[in-house]
Amino acid sequence: MLVLNLKTYSESTGLNCKKLLDIVSEYVANTKIEKIRDRIIVAVAQTDLFWAKQNYPDLIIAAQNVDNKVQGSSTGWVPVETLLSYGVEYALYNHSEHRMYSDSILEDIKTIQSKGVKLIVCCENTQEAVKLTAANPFAIAYEPKDLIGSGISVTTRPESVSEFVKAIPTQKNILIGAGVSNGDDINKAVELGAEGVLLASAFVKALDPKAKLDELVQPFA
Ligand code: G3P
Repeated sequence: MLVLNLKTYSESTGLNCKKLLDIVSEYVANTKIEKIRDRIIVAVAQTDLFWAKQNYPDLIIAAQNVDNKVQGSSTGWVPVETLLSYGVEYALYNHSEHRMYSDSILEDIKTIQSKGVKLIVCCENTQEAVKLTAANPFAIAYEPKDLIGSGISVTTRPESVSEFVKAIPTQKNILIGAGVSNGDDINKAVELGAEGVLLASAFVKALDPKAKLDELVQPFA
């Protein structure tokens, strides 16, 4: 699984979001790697979500966060029902850059998923993952905060990745991320037991995002 988190870079929002989604959409439509077709998820900025799903209905678009709030009197929050009304059925959750500190985080994950949004729940360490897998999220992602955006891949810490993977044996869709930059990093991630990766800057800031996407997908061929 390849999760492209576009974050809110100038290179990945507004018209530039369109440029990147055009690339992903064309790639997904034409790839011969059947099994990756349904396994590329693009998390676009909350501000681009509605038009992104409207214009790329066949892409798996994720929100970068979602809130266990109801529609109506919830200024600034992103309720589950709003995502579903857009046709968005996936969301990142508890990303290092958008931590959910609530005491009710387990209940929130369960409630959000029970309404129909699949969560890719981010964790900064094994202890947090063990706690959050109890809510049975669609996916869990390990991202050591200090490596995010560094270009130094999480796979340079193989012991931490292995410890993480082994600590949650019943969890499906274990992803790793932070600094993942190229196909070698992804091969290493899969060798270490991950189902895939969550990455941002290597794709968003690539000089040639189309070529970079092709490189990032190859390990899954
Ligand atoms: O969600 C992915 C992210 O936090 C990792 O960012 O730029 O290191 O791939 P990056």
